[in-house]
Amino acid sequence: MTTPSKTALTGIKPTGVPHLGNFVGAIRPALRLVDEYDHAFYFIADYHALTTIFDRTLLAFYTRAVTATWLACGLDPNVATFYRQSDVPETYELMWILSCVTAKGLMNRAHAYKAARDKNRAAGEEDLDAGVNMGLYNYPVLMAADILLMESDVVPVGKDQVQHVEYAQDIAERFNRIYGQTYTLKVPEHITSADEAENAMPGLDGRKMSKSYDNTIPRFCERAELQKLIRRLKTDSAPVEAPKDPATSSLFAIYKQFASDADREHIRARLLNGGLGWGELRDIVFEELDRHLAPGRERYNALMADATQVESILQHGAAKARVRAKRVLAAARAAVGIG
Ligand code: TRP
Repeated sequence: MTTPSKTALTGIKPTGVPHLGNFVGAIRPALRLVDEYDHAFYFIADYHALTTIFDRTLLAFYTRAVTATWLACGLDPNVATFYRQSDVPETYELMWILSCVTAKGLMNRAHAYKAARDKNRAAGEEDLDAGVNMGLYNYPVLMAADILLMESDVVPVGKDQVQHVEYAQDIAERFNRIYGQTYTLKVPEHITSADEAENAMPGLDGRKMSKSYDNTIPRFCERAELQKLIRRLKTDSAPVEAPKDPATSSLFAIYKQFASDADREHIRARLLNGGLGWGELRDIVFEELDRHLAPGRERYNALMADATQVESILQHGAAKARVRAKRVLAAARAAVGIG
């Protein structure tokens, strides 16, 4: 008997230009999946982005930037399966089948939907569903379709997405209880990295780096731009000779994500001892980051300038993904009595 091969799946929502926080928290760890699993699936969840982005130029731009970023960071489309969700239309057909075995009450309890209602409540809005579109409401079912269509064994996610993977489990189990005699969907598991807090990346203003705070450092920017942004990172006014706490320094928090263990400990000691000024640390952090971030820059710029290349990579990925998607959808359709 052979051991069954394992599939890991990661969905990436194209709602911004990827920044260092995305890189450290999501991209870098996810790139390791190709070594840890037999199959690694990565896809751009553009129809998920459509629940919040209503500008076609912007959606197309983010889709391109996210695709180019992952490729330039080293995602090898010949080893992994890298595709765009909307190029796999089987997703949307499976979504409907899943909708019909999904309890509405489950959706009522989804975090993102509840948060939207809480916001309306706090604002004194009479209609708690004001501003909630059906895309937001059905978001978890679409995500379950992404996951179940590719027979995913594991879905690595941030803590905010754990509930969505649990929903995919619930929905798969419900499907299997009803139709399991004929066909069973693979029930996925989520994995989260334990050191999420440890890897929190501060933004320019000291808050968590996030597009919504407008405090990000893009993963791919030119050397001069990188230097300018690092100069903007917040520090306190402690003089050069003062001992400094590495735990509260944004510069150090960023540095430690890139530096070698030895360099990190060396800088930590210099901060604690005093004598290392913020100006000098800025230069050290800048050079270290530039050394790590520079290698993919040309590739990124080339991909951003060449739509056909990006398109052909995504089409190649979709063709691979659809082999599985068609098989699973056909089985699910047959199980429910369609076709
Ligand atoms: N909801 C995820 C996010 O916001 C993106 C996503 C869509 C996803 N479909 C997925 C993640 C399937 C994992 C598996 O980041």
